[in-house]
Amino acid sequence: MIDYDDEARNYDASRGGEPRALAAADAVELLLPQGPCSILDIACGTGIVTRRLLSPERMVVGVDRSPGMLGLAGQRVPGGVVRGDATRLPFASDGVDAVVIVWLLHLLPDPASVLAEAARVLRPGGVLITTVDKDDAYFVEGSDIAQVTAELRRQYAPRVPDGSARVLGWAAERGLGLAGQTEFPGTGQGRSPRRWREVIAAGRIPWCAHATEDQVADVCQRLAELPDQDAARPDPLYRLVALKA
Ligand SMILES: C[S@@+](CC[C@H](N)C(=O)[O-])C[C@H]1O[C@@H](n2cnc3c(N)ncnc32)[C@H](O)[C@@H]1O
Repeated sequence: MIDYDDEARNYDASRGGEPRALAAADAVELLLPQGPCSILDIACGTGIVTRRLLSPERMVVGVDRSPGMLGLAGQRVPGGVVRGDATRLPFASDGVDAVVIVWLLHLLPDPASVLAEAARVLRPGGVLITTVDKDDAYFVEGSDIAQVTAELRRQYAPRVPDGSARVLGWAAERGLGLAGQTEFPGTGQGRSPRRWREVIAAGRIPWCAHATEDQVADVCQRLAELPDQDAARPDPLYRLVALKA
């Protein structure tokens, strides 16, 4: 996982900024309970999404383990952020109406301990809302990037920590079922073939981390052969699921 203390200053600008945060918060809103409620945003980061969940009838708290990210979140959600690890949340059991997790599970070796903690702090009948399948978000059907990368992604797919099948399977074992789902666009985040080669070279693509050097070189070669090297492909579409007893 990258060092989010180092990343904090660049985080918002490099992850779609306010347009992405607005789209994410709007999508989360669709899955949240109506009316007064308490919300815990796990891995709130810079609070760019968290602050958009605030309303007079809600109590919203963000938790994150990175002091660098939390420093920014504290400015956006004054008095509403806490430092803590998602695998050992510093909150009582059965306490909140909704848990929100945006862009954390895909970073973890195994999401089970974080999901278990999320379920623990949720009051009976509460809702757990999380992103899933994050690394698939770029690969809309028919995209040339999707075709060129398909084989490597297929080989890597079983290991994806935030795979929806895996998350839903975990939820089912604990009596939680799919109560809703939606998507939000990563506005302005579509990548050109050249940009894909850059992020692969920077080691930022998980399905490349598990491939051989030859496989990665082959994919990069095929990306280099695509037309319109500097034309961004469609924006990614990120998935959110809501889990409930
Ligand atoms: C990709 S960022 C997402 C931030 C925010 N949810 C957003 O959508 O802008 C991932 C965040 O997870 C936090 N994080 C990673 N592992 C964590 C853990 N075990 N407990 C708490 N926070 C964690 C990082 O510090 C970082 O702020």
